[in-house]
Amino acid sequence: MPDEPSSQFTHFFGKLEPKQKYGQTLALAPIALAVLSGCHGPQSALNPAGKGSAPIVDLTVWLTIGAAIVWFSVIGFAVYAIRLNPSAHNRRRARRLIIGGGAVVPTIVLTVMLSYGLSMMPEQLAPAPDGSQRIHVSGEQWWWRFEYELPSGEFVETANEIWLPLDEPVEFLLNSPDVIHSFWIPSLGRKLDMLPGTETRLALHPLKEGYYRGVCAEFCGESHSLMAFDVKVVPRRDFDAWLERQRSDAVIRSLEQEGARTFTRNGCGACHTVRGTFADGSIGPDLTHFGSRESIGAGLFKNRKDNLEGWLRKTDTLKPGVNMPHYAMLSNAEIGAIADYLLSLK
Ligand code: CUA
Repeated sequence: MPDEPSSQFTHFFGKLEPKQKYGQTLALAPIALAVLSGCHGPQSALNPAGKGSAPIVDLTVWLTIGAAIVWFSVIGFAVYAIRLNPSAHNRRRARRLIIGGGAVVPTIVLTVMLSYGLSMMPEQLAPAPDGSQRIHVSGEQWWWRFEYELPSGEFVETANEIWLPLDEPVEFLLNSPDVIHSFWIPSLGRKLDMLPGTETRLALHPLKEGYYRGVCAEFCGESHSLMAFDVKVVPRRDFDAWLERQRSDAVIRSLEQEGARTFTRNGCGACHTVRGTFADGSIGPDLTHFGSRESIGAGLFKNRKDNLEGWLRKTDTLKPGVNMPHYAMLSNAEIGAIADYLLSLK
């Protein structure tokens, strides 16, 4: 299950709050909070769960250590120079300090770091082996279109949520119809730009079962920060079962006929597809199995009836610039019927 973003903050506030006497510690709380809240959770690059992500964490740690060495050296030299008896200053000593702190130490550290970073490139850039599960991803404003390529050549489309088979390589084929986005699942590996008019390829290999969160890592418009997606890494058996469910058409229960009619009557099918019905639009996310998804609005809210009703009434305020108009003109009964219908699409 996804962590509510607030729960991480509550967690750390809870630890820091009562210790009034440590005034200074508290003053540092916002900084510590910002740093620590990035260390765990489903969207942390410091919580590696893929083959490519552990070396990136190591690199981050070593870069931080390297930066610390340079910083402490420079500050050390500065303090030394300040505390030195002014009469002891002389040209030779000053030159030694400047060359040592300003050139020698940074050059050694940066050369080591650069070599280390470059040595990781072949593994990070290696293409996915033949036979990997291929997933075509299109970055939309502001959501994600996913198409699983089956061995038969058939495509299964879904949106804003992907499942991946545990301990198997996956190849993402990335593109965008209009602006540049960047595809990133921080816990699983590196990020890669999604460029209009060209296809970029990213190989990932998840190693830990669990729930993760992907994001867009390139500013792509006013709701850039509001396009996320859910990622579930599951054993092969569960993955196959999920993909087979996604492949099938929607099943509409008799109870939901009224909601389905309201959906059609208001033109929702012009933008959205619900396979097995007349709704076959391709501008917005495919909703065939909407009810099975973790979140709505591309990672914006948990997929619950009250959230969905709010979303239908206020799409434009909840996600500025979104193409989907709001449906605040509909009655509560109509909104409720559409929500029930969509949530029944498992
Ligand atoms: Cu898409 Cu930022």
